[in-house]
Amino acid sequence: MSDLLPPIGDLPPNVRASGPGGDATRALVDLLASSECPGLTARRRRREELTGSSHDPIVWAEARGANVVDVDGNRYVDMTGGFGVALLGHGVPEVVAAVQSQAGRLLHALGDVYPSAEKIRLEGRLAALAPWPARVILGLSGADAVEAALKTAMLATGRPGVLAFEGGYHGLSYGALSTCGYKLAFREPFAGQLNPAVRFAPYPSTADSGRALEHVAAVLSEGRTGALLIEPTLGRGGVEPAAPGALATLTALARRHGVLVIADEIYTGLGRTGGLFQSIAMGGDPDVLVIGKALGGGLPVSAAIIREEVAAAWGYPVGEAIHTSTFLGNPLACAAAIASLDVLQRPETAAMIARCAASLERSMRSCLETPGLGVRRMNFAGVLVGVAIDGGLRRALAVCRAMLEQGYIVLTGGVAGDVLTLTPPACLTDAQIAAFSATLAAVLAESHDR
Ligand SMILES: Cc1ncc(COP(=O)(O)O)c(C=O)c1O
Repeated sequence: MSDLLPPIGDLPPNVRASGPGGDATRALVDLLASSECPGLTARRRRREELTGSSHDPIVWAEARGANVVDVDGNRYVDMTGGFGVALLGHGVPEVVAAVQSQAGRLLHALGDVYPSAEKIRLEGRLAALAPWPARVILGLSGADAVEAALKTAMLATGRPGVLAFEGGYHGLSYGALSTCGYKLAFREPFAGQLNPAVRFAPYPSTADSGRALEHVAAVLSEGRTGALLIEPTLGRGGVEPAAPGALATLTALARRHGVLVIADEIYTGLGRTGGLFQSIAMGGDPDVLVIGKALGGGLPVSAAIIREEVAAAWGYPVGEAIHTSTFLGNPLACAAAIASLDVLQRPETAAMIARCAASLERSMRSCLETPGLGVRRMNFAGVLVGVAIDGGLRRALAVCRAMLEQGYIVLTGGVAGDVLTLTPPACLTDAQIAAFSATLAAVLAESHDR
């Protein structure tokens, strides 16, 4: 931690009067604009055109607990938890200590050939999380683990077809992208290189579940599908939960047709929505559980946890492993994941998440369920919260920018981009929560474009 800054974590925002960023940020953003692939810079300009205010990024320098500090010393409360990674907070001391200790011993090993002890220990810990005997394939990103699950389904069923859902997000590498029903714009430019055997069904949310389940039944009865891939709650797709009973029905349908069920728990899993796996808490019985994000406590590691009898489809190849990568089971990331699981599995952590979720819901309902704010609906699933607002993407972007100016990092989600998507660290204090809710209410009240 910098010697110049006070200890951070539980503090309120502190953004200078001139707004987020400053000279150091501007210099770095200029460098970014001149060096990064132009897609990102152009997107910022488009956002600025839409909302009339700057959409330059802030540049993170330091983060602890729920606080992030930018390179100009402004302090924020991170309501995104770093895309959901910092479920326990940024810079969890146990994770930092494990990484520091590991870094002094072993940074890299030989993945699938001569692994590190940390990789082996982590795989043991992950297999033990499943409610059935399990085998594990590690990855570096969420998309990596989704792809391991899709390959497993191909080997186990011999069928290339995948049934995925509109609004679902599974990552952007080609295998995962082909199943990504979140936005056509992600798939369209690359359509020629994507798996043509992917079909999409409407997501079985409460409103749509009857139609969705009929659609699924019709596709599965064609006999070409090997995998059904679903998020128990659409995360990036707008914090939309599956209807009660839908996951149990989907599992039963899939079993009848010999189709593997892959639950993408990258957002929802490991406690964010309360239990370890939301798909199971909701009555589903998946064959593969995919996790990432919070697993590494800030380091990149993910996993597909596969039923043992299904994993047997990988066989015992005598030659080279047909699924591996240079950094598979990276010791640093595995050490971080073990430390992060140690903390995640403590009873007091579950209590902290439950307390934070309840406080967030209470405070947000009391501040935001008020006529005139243009809030269409709020969905709460533990510390995964969606606030759908009137006024479309334009207003949502303006609200996010106004929140940043007040010191709160908030992102938009949802297919139409009009859902403020909150995946904060569960270590938020009641004071941080109360101040956030009041600030969001004030920003929404002042945002007239609705
Ligand atoms: C549900 C879900 N699956 C998969 C992914 C992809 O993970 P990654 O970005 O680590 O590849 C994400 C990322 O947001 C996600 O939310």
